[in-house]
Amino acid sequence: MKVLITGAGGQLGLDLLDAFADTGVTGLTSADLDISDEAAVTSAIRDLEPAVVINAGAWTDVDGCEADPGRAHRVNALGPWWLARACADRDATLVTISTDYVFSGVAPGGVGRPAAGTGAGAEPRGWTEFDPIDPINAYGRSKWAGEQLVRQTTPRHHIVRTAWLCGARGGNFVRTMLRLARERGAVAVVDDQFGSPTFTRDLAAALRRLAVSGRYGTLNLTNAGRASWFDLAAATFELAGLDVELTRQSSTELNRPAPRPAWSVLDTTHADTTGIGPLPAWRDGLAGLLRELDELR
Ligand SMILES: NC(=O)c1ccc[n+]([C@@H]2O[C@H](COP(=O)([O-])OP(=O)(O)OC[C@H]3O[C@@H](n4cnc5c(N)ncnc54)[C@H](OP(=O)(O)O)[C@@H]3O)[C@@H](O)[C@H]2O)c1
Repeated sequence: MKVLITGAGGQLGLDLLDAFADTGVTGLTSADLDISDEAAVTSAIRDLEPAVVINAGAWTDVDGCEADPGRAHRVNALGPWWLARACADRDATLVTISTDYVFSGVAPGGVGRPAAGTGAGAEPRGWTEFDPIDPINAYGRSKWAGEQLVRQTTPRHHIVRTAWLCGARGGNFVRTMLRLARERGAVAVVDDQFGSPTFTRDLAAALRRLAVSGRYGTLNLTNAGRASWFDLAAATFELAGLDVELTRQSSTELNRPAPRPAWSVLDTTHADTTGIGPLPAWRDGLAGLLRELDELR
């Protein structure tokens, strides 16, 4: 099986290279292949002749996308489209990664989300693959456009929605928390956004199962369980044995340029019942990441 990974220098891309190391895998970083360049994409796929293309490339700077939605669209929507067109021409399978940020964050079914800070109250369900899409920021809109262009272009697609990615080799929340803990000893973290923390080692292994499954379509894939950013920070400090003054903050206080969904937990029933999942519980995934970073106490 010849596999091509685009965006191979990112945190997921690097773990995908490891997950496919025993196959004929080629990784192209953004410097090797700009997925928003249609001619370059066409010739790369023509020359390399992959059976499976896994696109881990994206512009993931959510606030950056808000400031430059044109660039977000070029990379996150047109990039997957050019890949889908080139794959369709060669009967190759395309796996492309999408996001929980395609959802509005207002809990599905209109159920209230857990009371901020406590995790108590009526527990809403996670978003399924069939829930209505309603992105609230430019990043989410660009990723949703990319999903649709892929769907319309090739039936041999796996669109994988995942969330809150953390890997050993990339910028992410867990690594930021570890750095801030050491630099400041005190951190304030938002406790009113809930999602599905996901660890790129676990996701890469599941993507390998999916890529050869022939089960085309859209699939949610995350580690199991839900957390707030506050929960994730608290678990990081606990497992790393760091004594940090951790305080709660609201999204309004943080006041970032792009709004974030308040409830973006994904329902992984389809992945879990078809053998692609389940992925480990997020605390176990976190422990695995900390072990890899030599930070597990
Ligand atoms: N991070 C999250 O929390 C999260 C959550 C849900 C879904 N996702 C999705 O998961 C996938 C992997 O994300 P990640 O966390 O691994 O992100 P990442 O670490 O930011 O990696 C993305 C990679 O894409 C590359 N890239 C940017 N523009 C490109 C272009 N025009 N052509 C080719 N490559 C380009 C980047 O290269 P440069 O660094 O050189 O720009 C980077 O190496 C993305 O599709 C993302 O949207 C991520």
